[in-house]
Amino acid sequence: QDVEKGGYPHYMLKEIMEQPYALAQTFSSLQTQDLSEVLKILENARRIYVVAAGTSYHASLLGAIAFRRFLGVDAEALISSEFRVVSRVVKWGDVVIGVSQSGETIDTLLALREARERGAKTVAIVNNPFSTIARESDYVVSMRAGPEIAVAATKTFTSQVLTLLYIIAKLAEKSSAINVDSKAMIHGIKMSYEIAEKALSVSQGKAMAVANKLFQKHSAYYLGRVFGVPIAMEGALKLKEIAYIHAEAYPAGESKHGPIALVDKDYPVIFIYIGFLDELIEGNIEEMKAREAWIATIAPENMVRGSIEKYSNVVIEMPRAPLETRLITYAIPLQLIAYYTATLKGLDPDKPRNLAKTVTVI
Ligand code: AGP
Repeated sequence: QDVEKGGYPHYMLKEIMEQPYALAQTFSSLQTQDLSEVLKILENARRIYVVAAGTSYHASLLGAIAFRRFLGVDAEALISSEFRVVSRVVKWGDVVIGVSQSGETIDTLLALREARERGAKTVAIVNNPFSTIARESDYVVSMRAGPEIAVAATKTFTSQVLTLLYIIAKLAEKSSAINVDSKAMIHGIKMSYEIAEKALSVSQGKAMAVANKLFQKHSAYYLGRVFGVPIAMEGALKLKEIAYIHAEAYPAGESKHGPIALVDKDYPVIFIYIGFLDELIEGNIEEMKAREAWIATIAPENMVRGSIEKYSNVVIEMPRAPLETRLITYAIPLQLIAYYTATLKGLDPDKPRNLAKTVTVI
């Protein structure tokens, strides 16, 4: 088993550390797949739904924001077990993308089946191309991120984000009407493996410093804006899953609408600052500081200024990189924070209580 863990104490850490390799693999595998049919149906889609559970849902949320923002198309991410909220309006001409690492999650499978029955086309984005979801979908996009053993998904999240952004860049390439530099976008996506490597080395010590604070706490907030929201949600899910600490993520602008009532001296708040459409986070950091919160901020190294610099107890400075690269790599320090917090609490992050790697029961 130690050999399988590649010298790391846990599968989870091994999988976090192998993200540069997994991202490179996913990128080259996408380049060798014939995506022409998938791109054609997406191009002509009336509406796009991205359905998934857990971590895969967070990647889907980010993907749906990117579909809307970069392509201006009507896209929505849905939790697969809640698919019935829209199933009456799904129809012929719609495309439903199911995102699933295992390809076996029952809720996602059932949502895709229902979508197909209603005449929509289905696309599976999976890590296992031989899975049930892959077999039952009209089209399959395979990530080839390598096996993920730890219950908490890590490398498959970053590979899912890469895959969704790659599809979006390819769609942008096909349409002259879209004002997106698809070449630059593909370049940014490709760079993610190098930046992931740098991010891993620069963020370890700081992630440990955040973990040192969190492991004594019962609750934490993860806040972001726009693209930072699904990344915050993923960070909070990781902390809950393996460190058993209540963590809540929401859009930073919502703070003053209620959640800030919980914040008092030393309450941990983690900000995810992407540096795109989220400049108002500076004000949210100030609001939290005024309540004497303990603040950690993840931000691009070239954008650490103002209240980020002034009020954050810890700043995790991410390498300078294009937007797409940032979207793919910003979950990395959050994964490390959760991992170190769990180990400081003496927990085994590979075997979180009450959880299974794949949920095949409704
Ligand atoms: C991730 O850390 C979780 N263990 C869980 O939320 C998982 O992402 C979810 O069950 C979906 O799994 P899938 O990607 O295999 O469909």
